[in-house]
Amino acid sequence: MDVYALLRPLLFRCDPESAHRHALNALKYAAACGWKAPAAEGTPVKLMGLDLPNPVGLAAGLDKNGEYINALSALGFGFIEIGTVTPLPQAGNPQPRLFRIPEHHAVINRMGFNNDGIDRLIANVRAANFKGVLGINIGKNAATPMERAADDYLIGLEKAYPHASYITVNISSPNTKNLRDLQGGDELSKLLETLKNKQAALHGAHGRYVPLAVKIAPDLDEAQTADIARIVLQTEIDGIIATNTTIDKSALGASPLAQEAGGLSGAPVREASDRVLANLASAVAGKVPVIGAGGILSGEDAARKRRLGATAVQVYSGMVYRGPALVGECVGACR
Ligand SMILES: Cc1cc2nc3c(=O)[nH]c(=O)nc-3n(C[C@H](O)[C@H](O)[C@H](O)COP(=O)(O)O)c2cc1C
Repeated sequence: MDVYALLRPLLFRCDPESAHRHALNALKYAAACGWKAPAAEGTPVKLMGLDLPNPVGLAAGLDKNGEYINALSALGFGFIEIGTVTPLPQAGNPQPRLFRIPEHHAVINRMGFNNDGIDRLIANVRAANFKGVLGINIGKNAATPMERAADDYLIGLEKAYPHASYITVNISSPNTKNLRDLQGGDELSKLLETLKNKQAALHGAHGRYVPLAVKIAPDLDEAQTADIARIVLQTEIDGIIATNTTIDKSALGASPLAQEAGGLSGAPVREASDRVLANLASAVAGKVPVIGAGGILSGEDAARKRRLGATAVQVYSGMVYRGPALVGECVGACR
């Protein structure tokens, strides 16, 4: 029996942020009592030098502070990404800032990197003592001027480094002003070069290599995607996550929620995410692994991303609509 199918109508009666908290707390209690999703037999994969038991991961943003790591791992993910975390705690945008659009299997969010700051996240990671593959996704504080953005990423990288299996550089949230300007040309080369140099220093200091991935938007044309691929190869970044949410709401048609500011995810972002993934995979030609995210609502969606060239995949909005069963279904489909 799919318990989530029973719970979902109740959760959907709550405002989305409360439902999010209730669902995660329920999962935390269930996992603390020893509950685990029925084990789906997965195919292990190597990603950025890391050994994953299966290629299905949790995307960033669901557990921004790393408060639910062990609970989420009970769902059978091959890897878990927490964050986005910023150097200092910040409240994010005023509520309401999260919207479900059930008729489109979609979510709009303009959370704005609400989080408790990197020090709190690290304390949570330490307490979790998680043995699986853990990504930490880093961003910049809203109050940090864009010309100082690299400083925030450097703080995140330095503090997260000893505690992460890999680190994701998020330059694709639509909810931090001008953040997406970092996605191309000189800005991107300079930022990634700076972070690669820091990674080399931290590798020496800690005696452990922690790979760096960069997360990009679905709202990029072929030339922009090729530019990113070129810079990633040049700077020897270890992986690319494609994609974040989209600012294109046209797939929502006449839905009144199409007017809400923020990033759209779930089924309506699938086509754009898949297009960017395919363009990117062909541009990097296997030299750098790509992680596919965006619009995975079924095992078939995950399997298609793998056929398009993704080494691994990540899910978020699909969990809202499908619940825990989605993880096992994707793991099975990616065998
Ligand atoms: C409510 C919400 C919050 C998110 N927060 C973050 C975030 O903090 N950092 C990030 O890199 N991506 C964030 N994302 C984007 C997801 O990680 C994912 O890339 C995107 O939603 C596409 O996947 P999906 O269609 O499976 O949701 C967020 C998505 C949602 C729905």
